[in-house]
Amino acid sequence: KIPIIIDTDPGIDDAVAIGVALFHKKLDVKLLSTIAGNVSVEKTTNNALKLVEFFDKDIPVAKGANKPLCIPYEDSSHIHGESGMGGYEFPEPKKAIHPEHAVNAIREMIMNSEDKVTLVPIGPLTNIALFLTLYPECKSRIERIVLMGGSASAGNHTPTAEYNIFADPEAAKIVFASGLDITMVGLDVTSKATLSPDNVETIRDLNETGRMMYSMFQHYRGGSLRTGLKMHDLCAIAYIVNPELFKTQVCFVDVETSGTYTAGTTIVDLKNRYHREPNATVCLDIDVDAFRAWAVEQLANTR
Ligand code: BDR
Ligand code: CA
Repeated sequence: KIPIIIDTDPGIDDAVAIGVALFHKKLDVKLLSTIAGNVSVEKTTNNALKLVEFFDKDIPVAKGANKPLCIPYEDSSHIHGESGMGGYEFPEPKKAIHPEHAVNAIREMIMNSEDKVTLVPIGPLTNIALFLTLYPECKSRIERIVLMGGSASAGNHTPTAEYNIFADPEAAKIVFASGLDITMVGLDVTSKATLSPDNVETIRDLNETGRMMYSMFQHYRGGSLRTGLKMHDLCAIAYIVNPELFKTQVCFVDVETSGTYTAGTTIVDLKNRYHREPNATVCLDIDVDAFRAWAVEQLANTR
């Protein structure tokens, strides 16, 4: 099994990614670390606890940074609802939060893991940047980073910036400059990776998870139910277990941290204009039909 740590801000598409990862036979989820993003870190932590209880998995949840490194915090509750996971009444979680800050919990899990760990950030990159800065000696224990964020084309939060990168551009810049093996699963694929209205109907009738997801999907405004629901974060999990669904290119990526219009934009140098050393594998296309079939099959395997 591949040991992974999911750094997350649940978030409706985060919830789908977490559900699939927790039940995937190739994945060993060591930790959910939480970050302020779609909603506050108090809410994303509570949501992560609700999810591990719902899925009846004994996975630690560690609470991370409550704001970006340098800029003010801006949430995304207009997309994910006030609680971040609107539409379904989860019981209040009983499980306790991990006693350590996420950054220290990540270190602990990485140092205690027999095999190198894959980091899967699906929210703003604040925790990961802090972790790499505080504990550079842990880098040799990281297999790679597969992150949801960025875009080689248009943005979603601003005309050019994707939300996770926009929310903490300085952190993203640190991560891309870390020298680690990085895969960027950005909007070029995640905007296409939708669940169709038919998929959503099928999911409702699958099982308990399907009913839960269906209720949340009614409150997910990332895409309307009619045009398809964007499964951004699930694409990062799909890439780890089914890379053949994706078309990628290795190139130089950096992050614009300021600019009148461009803060949070990823500069993806597909044509090697800057003649810089490549530092990331960038996902550029996805087999949408195969992704949809895979996603429904994975959800059928949950509780
Ligand atoms: C990303 O932003 C969040 O709203 C989603 O959960 C996803 O991680 C998409 O831009
Ligand atoms: Ca997310």
